[in-house]
Amino acid sequence: MTELSARIAGIGSHLPERILTNDEISAMVDTSDSWIRERTGIRQRHIAGEGVTTCDLAERAARRALEDAGIAAEELDLIVVATTTPDFTFPSVGTMLQARLGATQGAAFDVQAVCTGFVYALSMADNMIARGQAKTALVVGAETMSRILDWTDRSTCVLFGDGAGAMVLQAAEPTGEGTDRSGILGTYLRSDGRFKDLLHVDGGPSSTGTVGHLRMVGNQVFRHAITNIAESMTTIASRSGVTIEEVDWFVPHQANQRILEGVARRLSIPTEKVISTVADHGNTSAASVPLAFDRAVQDGRIKRGDLVLMEALGGGFTWGAALARY
Ligand code: ACO
Repeated sequence: MTELSARIAGIGSHLPERILTNDEISAMVDTSDSWIRERTGIRQRHIAGEGVTTCDLAERAARRALEDAGIAAEELDLIVVATTTPDFTFPSVGTMLQARLGATQGAAFDVQAVCTGFVYALSMADNMIARGQAKTALVVGAETMSRILDWTDRSTCVLFGDGAGAMVLQAAEPTGEGTDRSGILGTYLRSDGRFKDLLHVDGGPSSTGTVGHLRMVGNQVFRHAITNIAESMTTIASRSGVTIEEVDWFVPHQANQRILEGVARRLSIPTEKVISTVADHGNTSAASVPLAFDRAVQDGRIKRGDLVLMEALGGGFTWGAALARY
């Protein structure tokens, strides 16, 4: 049996209205706009208002993606939400989103791979579509990272923000040959649990009974990020039968401008091909890849038929990449 392709039918994103500038953070902890810009490239981040949850952000992004795809929510038979900051321990944001959108078919669940969450979720949906287990899937990355930050820790609180991005995937008979096919061409997932202490949250339902706060050894994460991300990009490209030079656009997880530039330098990628939105919203964890992808579609850079490579690294460590023809 020929496997079905997962075509990208639509994309959407949402950022909460409230903007927190570097100057505002400088009034809260011992930091400065120039330090944050120089070390991270971040100018501002968006923060969800009181009472606004991850599911609220996910719903806004999902509705935009469905509208872009011209697909009714009732048609969805799979919802995968990547998040580290769910509204509740359970039920999943996926099932709550399913009810809000009025979707009743198939399955909905959450994937927890922190900043790599969207790449993991995309891989789940792609595989389920290829096996005929789903026909129309909604893949969302949504986070309220502001709720797990220690706002007295300058080494982490300046880096993160809230937001959501969503993609609608639709099963299609494969057309074209090899990488001329449209849709998701391949995904590559990795993890190595030995690095837990470099990036983690110090609480949870079964350990402390609290939500906990994000803790990070930033300079060590930085080094692993460049090496692992570059490895995942070259692996997905070679497994899919393309060269890095043939890729039209790179949509990285938006953690730090210096990581984006470091990876681009290592793989000799011209910076104009790297979509960077980190300045405007900081690190939104699982939301950042679809947020950046949507921005580049909206401003006309990524066009139908373009070859797009997405990648991420996050807590765990988890990391991975996905290659798609949009
Ligand atoms: N303002 C001012 N000074 C600060 C701040 C701040 N916000 N944060 C840390 N510093 C200080 C430190 O205290 C340290 O001071 P010291 O030398 O007196 O001890 C000094 O700056 C240098 O600290 P480093 O951690 O070595 O600084 P570095 O250049 O590595 O930059 C940063 C820190 C921006 C966190 C960087 O390591 C980084 O971006 N790492 C990647 C982490 C990341 O993005 N993680 C997100 C999740 S994983 C991912 O998504 C890829």
